[in-house]
Amino acid sequence: MKSPAGLLLSGVELDRTSTTPLYRQLYLQIRKQILTGRLQGGTRLPSTRTLSKELELSRITILNAFDQLTAEGFLASRSGAGTYVDSEWDSRAIAENGIQQQPPRLSTMSQSLLSMRSNHFQGISYADWNPASPTSFLPSHSTYESFPQNTWKRLMNRHLQKPSKAMLGYGELQGLQELRKAIADYVFDSRGIDCTSEQVVIVSGAQQAFNLLGMLLLNPQDTVWMEDPGHIAARIAFQAHGCQIVPLRIDAQGIDIEQGLRECPDARLVFTTPSRQHPLGTTLSYTRRLELIDWAARNHSWIIEDDCDSEFRYSGRPLPALCAMDQWDRVIYVGTFSKVLYPSLRLGYVILPPALVEPMCTIRAVMDRSPPTLLQAVTADFMREGHFLGHIRRMRTLYQARQEALLEQLQKNLGDFITVAPVDAGMHLIAWLPPSLNADTVAKELSLHNIHTYALSDYCLQPYLPPALLIGFAGVPQDQAEERVAALVLALRKMGHDV
Ligand SMILES: Cc1ncc(COP(=O)(O)O)c(C=O)c1O
Repeated sequence: MKSPAGLLLSGVELDRTSTTPLYRQLYLQIRKQILTGRLQGGTRLPSTRTLSKELELSRITILNAFDQLTAEGFLASRSGAGTYVDSEWDSRAIAENGIQQQPPRLSTMSQSLLSMRSNHFQGISYADWNPASPTSFLPSHSTYESFPQNTWKRLMNRHLQKPSKAMLGYGELQGLQELRKAIADYVFDSRGIDCTSEQVVIVSGAQQAFNLLGMLLLNPQDTVWMEDPGHIAARIAFQAHGCQIVPLRIDAQGIDIEQGLRECPDARLVFTTPSRQHPLGTTLSYTRRLELIDWAARNHSWIIEDDCDSEFRYSGRPLPALCAMDQWDRVIYVGTFSKVLYPSLRLGYVILPPALVEPMCTIRAVMDRSPPTLLQAVTADFMREGHFLGHIRRMRTLYQARQEALLEQLQKNLGDFITVAPVDAGMHLIAWLPPSLNADTVAKELSLHNIHTYALSDYCLQPYLPPALLIGFAGVPQDQAEERVAALVLALRKMGHDV
């Protein structure tokens, strides 16, 4: 076994070129050895003279480090007997080989050490959320460069220059009143929803709303109708509460309610994206909307309406939100600023039947209280002072132009390989592939050529749809459409496809 002195000396590495003083480097390294159990309580340290010789340091440097470690309780001096690691660190046993047995690291933990709930999150990739990774055709990515930075900065500075007590405190649990009022006005004008600001709860993005609503409304084993294909992260949020998912197909009118009634008529909740089915793009027909509300009212079931990007509708008749048609307080409406402003803002909102507001806020209080008041205040000003609607108008025109440019290039250069049609709403196209191909394999191979898309199958629970890729257009400037499609064609050729 190595002597403690040897252990200490072999563990110390000093960087004489660093701006961190040598005494502090020594202090940090000895402290780390004690904290990790490499040097255990009661171990006598080498004398300052020995250390000074071995480490080629002045004794003053060593004494400075020792003084600080002693003051913080890591070391203790016994008069005439030298300096020891304080006995408080006794319990940290060193194994025979001189290296303390470390607790298992998470990467080597077996799933049995994690909760059963965490199983549901397996397989979710967070690699796409690396801001440095290229986005080429990824859906859901907007035009960050067109965001009105100067206006935003001006509004932000206005609050920063004289931060009020309210701005720095915990903030209203339900969300900033001014923002809730601005949202209530906005959804009335744009989505036909007649609600008061008292029914609005501000959340950290729609995804948080889905998690909170799962907690609020679902018991283990409850059944949930989910659109298939559908929004993956919402499904997982509900599954994590132990509920059973009932996947319902999408046809030309939207979610197949007949299938739901056949397979699970008394589901507790349905999650739907009526204004633009995610990801297929269908609009839920008027008849189906009435049927869905009627079923929920009779069955005392809940409807979660995810309306994440209804602002980006280019053609077709916009129908009012499902929430606007609900007379029975069954629909919970979820909106977000992620698509229309920017995702890292982490601001979304829920419009609840009045009876659900208080229980929702109670859960909110335990989860994380409310999003930063400053950002809520800036967003409220942005809306109230007219910038919001102007920004939406500009983005809608821009995205429509981008869609046209990309569609033209795709049809011109890949028209014999894929089938792609314009979409009425949203930020991506669906490119249907030859039926013999596996979309997942194609998407993975394309990513090796730095072309990023998602396979439609990623969103599917049952394999009933032909293979397809989601091709985002909102993040593809018109003048880059030709070049990006050329790169796509080249990659497909390299992958052996006849295009
Ligand atoms: C269909 C759909 N709903 C909701 C969201 C959630 O957005 P956020 O949590 O950023 O508000 C997304 C995000 O991409 C989405 O695609």
